Amino acid sequence: MTGSLLITQIGELVTNAPEDDGAGQAAGGPGKFAVITDAALVIEGERVTWTGPSSRAPAADEVVDAAGRAVLPGFVDSHAHLVFAGERSAEFAARMAGRPYAAGGIRSTVAATRAATDAELRAGLHRLAGEMLGQGTTTFECKSGYGLTVRDEARSVALAVEITPEVTYLGAHVIPAEFDGDAGGYVDLVCGAMLDACAPHARWVDVFCERGAFGADEARAVLDAGRARGLIPRIHAGQLGPGPGVRLAVELGAASADHCTFLSDDDVDALAAASVPAAAGTVATLLPGAEFSTRQPYPDARRLLDAGVTVALATDCNPGSSYTSSMPFCIALAVRDMGMTTSEAVWAATAGGARALRRTDVGYLAPGARADLIMLNAPSHAHLAYRPGVPLIHAVYQSGRNIFTPASPVAPAGLA
Ligand code: NIG
Ligand code: FE
Repeated sequence: MTGSLLITQIGELVTNAPEDDGAGQAAGGPGKFAVITDAALVIEGERVTWTGPSSRAPAADEVVDAAGRAVLPGFVDSHAHLVFAGERSAEFAARMAGRPYAAGGIRSTVAATRAATDAELRAGLHRLAGEMLGQGTTTFECKSGYGLTVRDEARSVALAVEITPEVTYLGAHVIPAEFDGDAGGYVDLVCGAMLDACAPHARWVDVFCERGAFGADEARAVLDAGRARGLIPRIHAGQLGPGPGVRLAVELGAASADHCTFLSDDDVDALAAASVPAAAGTVATLLPGAEFSTRQPYPDARRLLDAGVTVALATDCNPGSSYTSSMPFCIALAVRDMGMTTSEAVWAATAGGARALRRTDVGYLAPGARADLIMLNAPSHAHLAYRPGVPLIHAVYQSGRNIFTPASPVAPAGLA
């Protein structure tokens, strides 16, 4: 788009606008959940330049009539594992028949990923990124972690950075079979040659801190090594049981502690303390797709929110524990089963994700923000949870460009 674009007659505009401190709104990133009804929004180039009531909208080169639809910031999916080959539906089916989830299943995806060509991995990555975009996700994180050799981790991060700047080095996902009995040797590799090969492509370093994966000392070693190379930590913590991961995340200034399904009171207190100041704190990122798909109890978002913790929602998209790319699905689960209100869940899926990725340009719609937005075939954000499973996305804009409009429905036979 070259000129200005006015989107008008918006039934409900979710802004998450920062409170105006008079010093330029974009500086601090998103604020609290906020809406404008009967709203309009102006985009110039890649940015939002104006929001307000439709009745006061300025003239623009091009006008889109939203016809009462809701407009929201694009979703920010801050936790996804998209570089892999194969699928594990048989494992899912066995779980639904009563078998528990175990971290060890990761190894079967590792074998398939190692055997895949770059082109196959790239095709899978693009397919999932396309799914995400079509469901309103305009910013997403992508982890390595299914290669677990220097070569396979390096190509995972190199492929990921082709489609997102939010790339996470997760060499410490699980200990690969060839290092059975030699966890120390594998941690040395993750902190040494593998990190050397991956750090140039990554912004973040992550570790799966859990029984069956990596303990506190190993996790600390990996995150410290990553930090020494300029990567910022984030941690898989408290997914399968209580453990040291959340407190380690806070201690190391991680951007996010992810899963947070099993939390002690001390963990909650530590996360609450780390939520102030908000911009550089440790966010609790909840991943309800994993609990859905592993038949585990959902994390207690209400407990965290009531304690003052900053909460993000993300998909955890991966072939083992959460093979969904849908932020609307996660919002619906969070509202129905985790004690979140519709506005808290939408905030967590937009502004919360931006906080978890320490981004100040996305997750909100106000002057200065990147023009990433979703238009819903619905009058309010609540419909994302109220109408679960329904494809409500009418249009997606990324950096001011309309990048997705669903194909026109074909009239069913007999009605044409
Ligand atoms: O976030 N927890 C570790 N990693 C993934 C699961 C990966 C897998 O099962 O393949 C997760 O749930
Ligand atoms: Fe994960």
